[in-house]
Amino acid sequence: MNLERIREKLKGSVSPVALTGAGISAESGVPTFRGPGGLWKNFRAEDLATPEAFEADPLRVWEWYDWRRGLISRIKPNPAHYALAELESKNPGLTVITQNVDGLHTLAGSRNVLEIHGSIWRVACTECKNSSENREVPIKILPGCPCGGVLRPGVVWFGEALPEDILNEAFEASGKADFMLVVGTSGVVQPAASLAYRGKEAGAFMVEINTGPSALSNIMDETVSGKAGEVLPGLL
Ligand code: APR
Repeated sequence: MNLERIREKLKGSVSPVALTGAGISAESGVPTFRGPGGLWKNFRAEDLATPEAFEADPLRVWEWYDWRRGLISRIKPNPAHYALAELESKNPGLTVITQNVDGLHTLAGSRNVLEIHGSIWRVACTECKNSSENREVPIKILPGCPCGGVLRPGVVWFGEALPEDILNEAFEASGKADFMLVVGTSGVVQPAASLAYRGKEAGAFMVEINTGPSALSNIMDETVSGKAGEVLPGLL
């Protein structure tokens, strides 16, 4: 790990990309998915985060998302989120591509944020497909659309396509990246993980910040082992 080399490369970067996962929000108190105590250790993803689960039992799915919305409504961005927002103010070419649905990058001041898995603060109608922001905590279950349809959480579930326009923008940014920070993701979910490979192919200088190894560690030029909230501020 050569922090000076990373700083040098970042200083010369005109189109940096940060690809973030649940680990960047861990120090804010948002549980990750696969780590110890991760959400998928305590809940079955297929019971809660799939279209079939919602079809079968929308009440149960909404109760889980209402619990997560309540938890996330009480937490704040951590120094890692703020460090990326500050980096963007110094280098407006920064694109943050996040798998997180917690909205903490925007709350910390980042402007150019691509939420490729949607947002827990958005809802979408299962009938008319209209999507809107909804920050009610608790949310009335089952929430209804004015059209009469049932609203669903505005997040991407397993087996669902990601929002095409946002994903295209993410691949475009990754394909032009000259520096890519991969922060707090296990790199096991597609197509998000492919964005890191796209950056690698584009010749980006690849840096991973993670408390442990990930499925993407092998394509990194530098890996910084540590907590994002402690490492990022010093690095940026
Ligand atoms: N700082 C940096 N990295 C951390 C920290 C931390 N404080 N805490 C945990 N990590 C790392 C873990 O080592 C792990 O590699 O964050 C990663 C979290 O991995 P996951 O829980 O798998 O989260 P993520 O990669 O974002 O999952 C991707 O899977 O369940 C779906 O849609 C969901 O967006 C999610 C996607």
